Amino acid sequence: MIKTFLLLFFTTTIYAGEPISPIPLNTKVDMKKAKLGQKLFFDTILSKDNSTACISCHNVFDGGADSNSVSSGFADKKGNIQSPTVLNSKYNFRQFWNGRAKNLFQQAQGPINNPAEHNMNAEAVEERLNDSKEYQKLFNSVYGTSKISYKQVLEAIVEFENALTTPNSRFDRFLRGEIQLTKDEKEGYVLFKQNGCITCHNGINIGGNSFQKMGTFVDYELQKDYPDRSKITNKQDHKNVFKVPTLRNINKTTPYFHDASAKTLKEAVRTMAKYNLGIQIKDEEIDKIVAFLKSLDGELPKILEEK
Ligand code: HEC
Ligand code: HEC
Repeated sequence: MIKTFLLLFFTTTIYAGEPISPIPLNTKVDMKKAKLGQKLFFDTILSKDNSTACISCHNVFDGGADSNSVSSGFADKKGNIQSPTVLNSKYNFRQFWNGRAKNLFQQAQGPINNPAEHNMNAEAVEERLNDSKEYQKLFNSVYGTSKISYKQVLEAIVEFENALTTPNSRFDRFLRGEIQLTKDEKEGYVLFKQNGCITCHNGINIGGNSFQKMGTFVDYELQKDYPDRSKITNKQDHKNVFKVPTLRNINKTTPYFHDASAKTLKEAVRTMAKYNLGIQIKDEEIDKIVAFLKSLDGELPKILEEK
């Protein structure tokens, strides 16, 4: 008992002073509901022409995004912005690049209704699923009702997303005092803080908790019109403002930025330094920051390992 207490005390003090906190090892999820959500997330039944599933653009086994500049969904229609990761998205303060959804429940209605993604609507989803004997049975066992509702569908998907956390990255284990980082990783973390990356990328998701301008110090030229924050607020100075993306598993979500303009992490770090800090970082220092960023790769969410 005393030992556990001491251990708790010790581990919290180790990372208490740091501006980044580790992902909890155990998150509370309703497994049965989440498993149903997983099936829906993987199933093309939620798209009008049975071509597209959430997983088409969010590969949860490998970074949670896709490797395209813009994703294709219904009838190969192209989206208008890079797809962000769904891993650890429950820790974001808002959803979408411009934060137009206040939570995952609101978010999930976006792709289902988007003509360039699933191209469906509430009634069509309910009709499809209620026609399926298999889904009738599954929903009945989770919700105890004979009729499937759109709300239940969204709830199940959200519960699956709640299970998509990636704990135990090397960096989190370092924060908990379990391992040492390599020299480069450690120096990279120091550079990340010293140069000021940490002012926007901090907290549990190392991002995901504020809106910031792409081009805070040096104007960033837009190639075309993107759904940035100004589309929500109608404020001119919100042009080019986006939710700061999470840097967890960033090693696996190339290409980078809303416009997919950076193909490598190195390039992304250099661009960030120039536009968002107004500085130039030496090549070998960029390599160290990249080493630190790679230490943020977490474990595959447990739910994906279970049958
Ligand atoms: C055709 C590709 C595509 C499909 C299919 C798709 N998404 Fe997305 N998803 C995107 C893109 C692109 C964005 C960013 C859009 C934006 O911010 O304007 C996004 C954003 C998100 C986000 C917000 C993440 C963040 O950090 O803001 C979540 C969560 C998400 N999608 C979950 C889902 C779910 C659940 C489904 C299935 C119901 C789904 N997506 C289907 C491409 C897709
Ligand atoms: C002023 C706030 C701010 C600072 C400082 C900042 N960033 Fe960013 N970062 C952002 C925003 C906003 C984006 C999204 C930009 C976009 O997509 O156009 C971003 C995107 C990124 C991305 C790409 C993420 C993705 O999923 O596409 C990486 C990598 C990154 N930042 C690393 C860094 C590093 C390393 C530093 C320090 C050298 C840094 N950032 C400094 C706000 C900031």
